[in-house]
Amino acid sequence: MTDVPSGDDWLSLRERAWVDRMRFEKRRSEFRLGRWTAKNTIAVLLGRPRTPEALPAVEIDRASDGAPAPMVGGQPAPVSISMTDRADQAVCVAGPPGLGLGVDLELLEPRSDAFVTDYLTPAERRFVGATPDREERDLRANLIWSGKESALKVLRTGLRRDTRSVEVSFPDEASREGWAPLTVRAAEGPEFPGWWRRYGDFLLTVAASEPFAPPRPLVDPPGLATAAPAHAWLPRP
Ligand SMILES: CC(C)(COP(=O)(O)OP(=O)(O)OC[C@H]1O[C@@H](n2cnc3c(N)ncnc32)[C@H](O)[C@@H]1OP(=O)(O)O)[C@@H](O)C(=O)NCCC(=O)NCCS
Repeated sequence: MTDVPSGDDWLSLRERAWVDRMRFEKRRSEFRLGRWTAKNTIAVLLGRPRTPEALPAVEIDRASDGAPAPMVGGQPAPVSISMTDRADQAVCVAGPPGLGLGVDLELLEPRSDAFVTDYLTPAERRFVGATPDREERDLRANLIWSGKESALKVLRTGLRRDTRSVEVSFPDEASREGWAPLTVRAAEGPEFPGWWRRYGDFLLTVAASEPFAPPRPLVDPPGLATAAPAHAWLPRP
């Protein structure tokens, strides 16, 4: 959030009009943060300048289902993307056009038994309940939630769809250093391969419509590696 310029000249006219119509500061700041992150991602990938003058030509349009539809110079960009933000950090993942992509950033935070009961499948609940360690339990609950959100973005339904209709699982032997694999299976059959990793208090999951290598950061090390959760939209004292 601290990287986002205070002015709006890097937004396209349409994006500025959307921001102007947003009544809540939280939504406005998250929208600007997400657009700043996605525009920079696309500019780096396509070798375009990242100046405020050049960034309005990279526009993150929204499809009717809410999924991001990146445009460059008024034409569909030759990349597919997915976006997420949490606690003043944003992530944009990008892949080849046509690839179904989903990314979700969560905080490692306590999750109630009611949350686990209401939103997770029986197998996921067993996995969460199988550890006596409280932090490991919360890690598993947040990770499963995040994996679901990533898959629901691949499916382009978001939370319109029952979270129990997609089930997250982890290979038993997976190491937790760096990116670790996960799989999300939709009740009607399709499987979405994915990856997850922890950055301090943040958990990041990525899923896609077909197998893919662990994501590579465009900035190394990524800002998330040293990020602390914050909430700049809250009124300052
Ligand atoms: C997709 C969804 C689960 C993400 O919610 P979240 O965890 O609060 O937010 P995240 O920061 O992780 O992701 C937000 C981004 O997801 C993306 N997104 C939204 N809907 C999406 C969809 N159907 N498919 C794929 N991606 C989607 C957008 O890029 C959005 O950012 P933007 O609004 O700034 O463009 C949620 O927005 C949702 O369920 N949307 C569909 C239902 C809906 O539209 N409800 C109306 C809300 S008022």
